[in-house]
Amino acid sequence: MSGLDKNMLLVIECLAKNRIQDAKKAAIACCANDTTKKNQRQINYCKNLLNIGSLELTTLPANLQGLIHIQDVSDFPENRYYVGTVQRQLYDKIYAGTQVAYRLADYAISYRNGSLIYGLPGTGKTEFAKYVAYKLQIPYIYLNFSNLIESYLGKTAKNLQTVFQYCQNVPCVLMLDEIDCISLERGHDTGADGELGRTTISLMQCLDTLAAGQVVIAATNRSDRLDKALLRRFRNKVEFTPYGPDEELQMIQKFIKDIDALELDTDLQNYAKGNHSQAETVDYLTEKLGSLLLQDILEAEKKRANQ
Ligand SMILES: Nc1ncnc2c1ncn2[C@@H]1O[C@H](COP(=O)(O)OP(=O)(O)O)[C@@H](O)[C@H]1O
Ligand SMILES: [Mg+2]
Repeated sequence: MSGLDKNMLLVIECLAKNRIQDAKKAAIACCANDTTKKNQRQINYCKNLLNIGSLELTTLPANLQGLIHIQDVSDFPENRYYVGTVQRQLYDKIYAGTQVAYRLADYAISYRNGSLIYGLPGTGKTEFAKYVAYKLQIPYIYLNFSNLIESYLGKTAKNLQTVFQYCQNVPCVLMLDEIDCISLERGHDTGADGELGRTTISLMQCLDTLAAGQVVIAATNRSDRLDKALLRRFRNKVEFTPYGPDEELQMIQKFIKDIDALELDTDLQNYAKGNHSQAETVDYLTEKLGSLLLQDILEAEKKRANQ
């Protein structure tokens, strides 16, 4: 193994002296020096994070803690994730949208790359957003609206603005989960003094500030109750449903591909016909695998005890 080069030494020195920004600069130089394509995905991912001056991965500012999570998706389990037709088409649109947004930015025209996914719980809405961040190699920022809502009047809108200001101009996937929590249609069911209506307006204003390279994915189980003007902010509106039997079978095949203990027996073939949500299928496979392994382990222990 060869020794450390100048930049690597600098990273270590800066970290030791707690000079985080300098350590980051040196780390960017390290990334640039790596010409072996061996760790390309990881390096690209880190480069994106390192270049985000305003985003501190490790220490979120206090006013954002509890509001958003920045998650490292570089280890997304791609070999267990099945990309169905609907997911493939949406991913392609989002990817193309980022290209369009960058081109239009040259003309000082902003182009919102927003998608709304609606569908039953467990149909893979949240997982898909992580997949998009992983594929585009940009940070994944998760914001759950049920955490964002404050009982203080006006505070929810302020929370939203804080989040969007923090992410300003940063290439990322911003996942707005359970968006229906705030965005019940303005005019009905808007609670105390139109608070929800005000928050919806604030969200729309925030969405209008998105820059090229920023991808927004919102998810809801209740698209019927979303404000029409808010709905218009999302270029793609796609329903995620449980896979049909063909795709469910393919998802199972992909999941078990490198797992010797599981094979596509009649039990699994029949299971695939059952119209389960993606989450149910993964739970079922995990249980099945777990009980097989448990059986193996118990038998091995029994043998050892009898020896
Ligand atoms: N396309 C898929 N391929 C493999 N597993 C999936 C897929 N979609 C979802 N899952 C599994 O289902 C679980 C639940 O999905 P999630 O995204 O949380 O659903 P939702 O957000 O719609 O409620 C995920 O943690 C993942 O294990
Ligand atoms: Mg979810």
